[in-house]
Amino acid sequence: MAPQRRGAPKAPEGSGAAERRRQSSTKSVRAPRDVRKRWLRVVVLGSCTALAACLFWGSLGGDDGITEVLAHRSEILPGRFIEVPCSEDYDSHRRFEGCSPRKCGRGISDAVITRDEARRIRSIAEKGLSLGGSDGGASILDLHSGALSVGKHFVNLYRYFGDKIQTIFSEEDFQLYRDVRQKVQLAIAQAFGISASSLHLTKPTFFSRINSTEARTAHDEYWHAHVDKVTYGSFDYTSLLYLSDYLDDFGGGRFVFMEEGANKTVEPRAGRVSFFTSGSENLHRVEKVHWGTRYAITIAFSCNPDHGISDPTLT
Ligand SMILES: *[C@@H]1O[C@H](CO)[C@@H](O)[C@H](O)[C@H]1NC(C)=O
Ligand SMILES: *[C@@H]1O[C@H](CO)[C@@H](O)[C@H](O)[C@H]1NC(C)=O
Repeated sequence: MAPQRRGAPKAPEGSGAAERRRQSSTKSVRAPRDVRKRWLRVVVLGSCTALAACLFWGSLGGDDGITEVLAHRSEILPGRFIEVPCSEDYDSHRRFEGCSPRKCGRGISDAVITRDEARRIRSIAEKGLSLGGSDGGASILDLHSGALSVGKHFVNLYRYFGDKIQTIFSEEDFQLYRDVRQKVQLAIAQAFGISASSLHLTKPTFFSRINSTEARTAHDEYWHAHVDKVTYGSFDYTSLLYLSDYLDDFGGGRFVFMEEGANKTVEPRAGRVSFFTSGSENLHRVEKVHWGTRYAITIAFSCNPDHGISDPTLT
């Protein structure tokens, strides 16, 4: 900003310089110093502009080479699917025909979950996470196992609160959670041409709340690039439901598919579902959150019924 403002009065300064140049035939001793001063100003202004440009470019994330945006925060996608060749990661696991990925890829849709559903499910996350919270910037709440981040550890919400859990969550909360899970499952099945009933919800499936506070333990380090199937062998299809808006609720925190040629980002938007096959064809990371708070749910599916978990219930 500043360099541009200072650049504007260049013309009057320039004409002044021309005037001085005309006088310079008589006062030749002062001329070189003026020229040097002017050059110095040009160099200083130039460096400032370059520095500002670098900072601006850096803040856009342009420092990490070529980045393509798969889904902008302001677009409303009826559904976008990009097929990518499957990795060999599935070969070392038992195959379930009609489910184990033969067609791999990634999809994004803003039409699966409404903004209102996202808002309501986010309030479940807020309620639950307000009972705990990591000392670092990343907290989780797993309604299936009951795991909740507290300080540098996790507690079991159900064990800790016992019957009092019903004063925190309502049956409607859990019903909404199940509905949302079901809709996401159907969307994945449709995109990959498989039967929804062949997909089994698996663990960990959890809410995440991320802010800019520095990590305190390895659990807080969400930003490393990883392959879900390597981290969790049971995963075949991973999905994320975003519950906050990129640049309205938080900065940083974009999802990035990492590729040789160009990284592909998904900008979170409340109600946006992003899903993908869990193998190394979908190596990914989440950028560090710079400000604000980012809420999302990770919902994972396995083709192996032995890895299935059930929906959470209140009683
Ligand atoms: C992709 O992102 C990673 C990590 O931010 C970076 O190291 C890499 O250079 C990027 N690749 C491209 C092609 O931009
Ligand atoms: C981030 O969340 C933690 C709780 O998990 C909280 O202690 C901390 O104050 C928050 N930081 C910011 C910057 O809001």
